[in-house]
Amino acid sequence: MYEMKPEYYTGIADIDAEHERLFELANETHELLHNYVTMDKADQIVHLVSELINYTRVHFAHEEEYMRRIQYADYEEHYAQHRQFEIKLSDIDFDALEADPAGQDDVIENLLEFLASWLVHHILKEDLRFVQK
Ligand SMILES: [Fe+2]
Ligand SMILES: [Fe+2]
Repeated sequence: MYEMKPEYYTGIADIDAEHERLFELANETHELLHNYVTMDKADQIVHLVSELINYTRVHFAHEEEYMRRIQYADYEEHYAQHRQFEIKLSDIDFDALEADPAGQDDVIENLLEFLASWLVHHILKEDLRFVQK
């Protein structure tokens, strides 16, 4: 469903591999949304969001280290975007998920829209900018 296109590659092996993993996580989110068998998806949502939080923490740290090394001029702005992503994920209320299984698909759909647009816009517009410096 979501996959890395040739134009998304930065040429930095670690960062590209991490972006591939983030696309996989977007696909897992998509699959979870279209899973009509599981009635209560709370555990899977918690698992997926935790994985996203942990994985992006490592990925963002790699990018930030790279940007500092090349003394990237727009470091602060890029750093702030990474923090906004983390805030958005940490805003997901796990307790509310358990209490309201009927609202879970809305949470997943929201997460998916956010992820899909982040992956495309942030990678294409922002990540590719610092590798071209
Ligand atoms: Fe990235
Ligand atoms: Fe980034």
